[in-house]
Amino acid sequence: MQGTGTFWMPFTDNRAFKAAPKLFSAASGCHYTDVAGRAVLDGTAGLWCVNAGHGRAPIVEAIREQAGKLDYAPTFQLAHPLVFELSQRLVDVFPAGIDTFFYANSGSEAVDSALKIAFAYQAARGQGQRTRLVGRQRGYHGVGFGGISVGGLPNNKRGFPLLAQVSHLSATLDIASNAFTRGQPQTGADLADELLAIIAEHGAETIAAVIVEPMSGSAGVLVPPVGYLERLREITREHDILLIFDEVITAFGRLGAGTAAERLGVIPDIITTAKGITNGAVPMGCVGVRRAIYDTVIEAAPGGIEFFHGYTYSGHPLAAAAALATLKLYADEDLFGRARELEVYFEDALHDLVGAPHVIDVRNMGMVGGIELAPREGAPGARGKALFDACFEAGVLIRVTGDIVALSPPLIISAAQIDEIVATIAGALERLD
Ligand SMILES: Cc1ncc(COP(=O)(O)O)c(C=O)c1O
Repeated sequence: MQGTGTFWMPFTDNRAFKAAPKLFSAASGCHYTDVAGRAVLDGTAGLWCVNAGHGRAPIVEAIREQAGKLDYAPTFQLAHPLVFELSQRLVDVFPAGIDTFFYANSGSEAVDSALKIAFAYQAARGQGQRTRLVGRQRGYHGVGFGGISVGGLPNNKRGFPLLAQVSHLSATLDIASNAFTRGQPQTGADLADELLAIIAEHGAETIAAVIVEPMSGSAGVLVPPVGYLERLREITREHDILLIFDEVITAFGRLGAGTAAERLGVIPDIITTAKGITNGAVPMGCVGVRRAIYDTVIEAAPGGIEFFHGYTYSGHPLAAAAALATLKLYADEDLFGRARELEVYFEDALHDLVGAPHVIDVRNMGMVGGIELAPREGAPGARGKALFDACFEAGVLIRVTGDIVALSPPLIISAAQIDEIVATIAGALERLD
C-alpha cells in the first residue's frame, strides 16, 4: 500500500497500524468490506455515528443531488434554505424547550461552541464573572482545548495547556457496588452532590456551566445512576448555572429516543450533538439551546454581529441535505422506536457474557453495551487490544478503550447479528490469555 508514511493517523498506534493495516473499502447495511473483500460486521456503527446503517440510499441520493445543485454557501451574513429547514426539523427531535440551533462540523467543535455560548449568555445577562466550568472525571468532550479542559481523560489532556478555571465531578462508575447492572445503577446519585462542594468552594456566582455526557460512551460506557442527572439538574437550576448535556453519542436514537435528555426525562439548557445527525455521511456538529439563551445573547448586543464565533462550514449544504435525509429515514423506519424495542434483546445477549473469562463488568443502556475486562498484569489495555484484533480477524468490528469493549451497533441490526457479535466476543475471550 502506498503512502502509509504520509498519513498521520488520529488516535492510532501508527507504527502498529502501518505494520499490519486494516483497511475498509466499502460498506453496506451492518457490514464493512475490507480491501481483501472480506465482510466485517459493524458492532460500533463506525464510530457511534452510522445509526441507520451504511450506504443508505436516501442519504446517498440527497448528498449527490445537493452536490450538483449547491455545493457550498457560507452562513456568515448569507445562508441557504436547507439549514433553516433542518433547524425547524430538529425542533421535533430535541426535547421541548431546546429549539434554536448552532452548527459546527464535529462533536469537538459543537462542544467548544457550546462552552462559548455559555460564556456569551452569562456575559449578556450581566453575569460575566461566571467564568468557571464544571466537567467530570472520565468525561470525553472531544479534542478542542475547551473539550479537553472540561473532559476527564488524562491521556487526552496531558502535555497540553488547559483552561484554568475548571472543576471536575467524580466519575459515576462504581464496579465494586454495581458490577453487572442492567441499565441504570440504583446507587450513586449522591455523587451529584459533589457539585454543591464545588459551589461552596468557588461560589455559584463564578460558575457558567456544568457539562456532562448523560451516558459516557468513549470513556467506556458509564451509565448514569438513577436520580443522578435529576440531582444535577436540580442543583444547577437552584444556583442559576447552565447545564449542558454532551449528546454527541447519545442523540439520534442511540438510547431509543431523539436524545438521552428525552429518554431520561432530564432536560438541560444546551445539548451538543454530531455523528448520528447525518448518519456519519457528512461531518456536522450541532448545538441546541433554549430560545432564551439565543434571545439573551442577541438582544444584549449593541447591534452588528452578536456572537463572534462560527465555522466556514457551519450548516454546510451537503451536511444539511444529509441531515434532513437522515432524520427522515430515522422517522420513516421508526429507528428510535426500533432501538427501544431491540435494547431488551441486546441487553440479554450482552449479559450472556457474565462469567466469560476476564469479564469483570457488563453494563448497558439503550443500544450501547460495555464489557470491562480485567487488565493483564502490568499491561493495561493489552487484553482489550488482543480482543479487538481477535474479533476483527473473526469478522466483527468492536471498539475498545483500554480494556473496556464498547458496542454500539447500527440501529438496524438484527437479533441474529447481535448474537454473532456476542458469540464472536465470547469465543475470542475463551482463547485469550
Ligand atoms: C460525548 C462526545 N463529545 C464529543 C466528541 C467528539 O466528537 P468528534 O470526534 O466529532 O469531534 C465525542 C466523540 O466520540 C463524544 O463521544
